[in-house]
Amino acid sequence: MVYEKELEEKLIAVRRNLHEEPELSNEEVKTTEKIKNWLKEGGISILDLPLKTGVIGEITGSSSGPIVAIRADIDALPIQEQTDFPFKSAVSGVMHACGHDFHTSVILGAAYLLKQRQERLKGTVRVLFQPAEETGHGAKSILSANGLDKVEAIFGLHNDPLSELGVMATKEGIFSAGVDRFEIEITGKGCHAAKPEEGIDPIMMASEIIPRLQSIVSREIKSMESAVISVTQIHAGHTWNVIPESVYIEGTVRTFKQEVREEIPGKMERIIKGIAASYGGEALLKWHPGPPSVQNDPEWTQFAKQIAEQNGYKVEEVEPTAGGEDFAFYQQKIRGAFVNIGVAGEYGLHHPKYYLKEEAILPASYYFANLAEQALSHLYELTLASKVASPK
Ligand code: NI
Repeated sequence: MVYEKELEEKLIAVRRNLHEEPELSNEEVKTTEKIKNWLKEGGISILDLPLKTGVIGEITGSSSGPIVAIRADIDALPIQEQTDFPFKSAVSGVMHACGHDFHTSVILGAAYLLKQRQERLKGTVRVLFQPAEETGHGAKSILSANGLDKVEAIFGLHNDPLSELGVMATKEGIFSAGVDRFEIEITGKGCHAAKPEEGIDPIMMASEIIPRLQSIVSREIKSMESAVISVTQIHAGHTWNVIPESVYIEGTVRTFKQEVREEIPGKMERIIKGIAASYGGEALLKWHPGPPSVQNDPEWTQFAKQIAEQNGYKVEEVEPTAGGEDFAFYQQKIRGAFVNIGVAGEYGLHHPKYYLKEEAILPASYYFANLAEQALSHLYELTLASKVASPK
């Protein structure tokens, strides 16, 4: 019990330290150093990987056993914090407004707990502190550094400030959306605003293209499927009496099914080029794919729910979100489950007043330690069973 109190104090201090000194995606240099030091303090070995930021620790019980991973993300957002906490961000315009400081302290706590149980672990647990989740590409850097080689199951978490303490929410299958970004460059011919017949007006083209893009969702996708197409930036023109040469448009597409995701760029291109051509202009679509949708493995999701119940969580079914999560990249290679943990805040994720209740940290550390330990035991038993079953 003394240890529990000490551990909780340590994890709260870790979380506050990270909160006060947030770093943006791919710039988590100090954060990475701190995590390495905290892992070393706990006697946890660190994998030697070619990563600029981010770190993976490892706790091995039986070296011949299976490997599982538990994952936190470590980056912050370009948001100016508007809270009055004594540990509020000291970095202007940067804030842990998505609670990745919470995820980091939870997984660090799980690592400490697993280290105590090292002798009895039926394999290896990798504790993954991933950079650049917010830009959607940190998971790829971990995968290309071979940080998850031979990992057989992976678990990740996000906090949910709008959910109560003691609530764990997840679901089998689709959990979050596939996230893609697009840019459109429309080119016409600039001219005097008084003589439009001498030019090709790209603003007219843009003003037809934008509403027509919505017809993809309403007219070209099956009624039972869904997608979101949002235009979020338009830039054109400098003054009142000149028709500009070009228009720049940017936005995002969110989808849940891979088939739908794959067909949208082609449909957008047809509309964009068709409308531009009808004016005698040109348009170019640039597609920037982000993470696919998080697809939770049914068996591991059941397993994660079961362990959550054993740990005293109230388990709820989560509504799929149109937000993105680059944990999806891991799930393309490794079966696993992603879960939400209630942290009883008041404002949503990415809000400048976002906060969470720190009482949520320690129980979540226990949960992830137990989940990893029991997943190892489960995989170990499966291997034993298959050895017995396969005749020599
Ligand atoms: Ni997040």
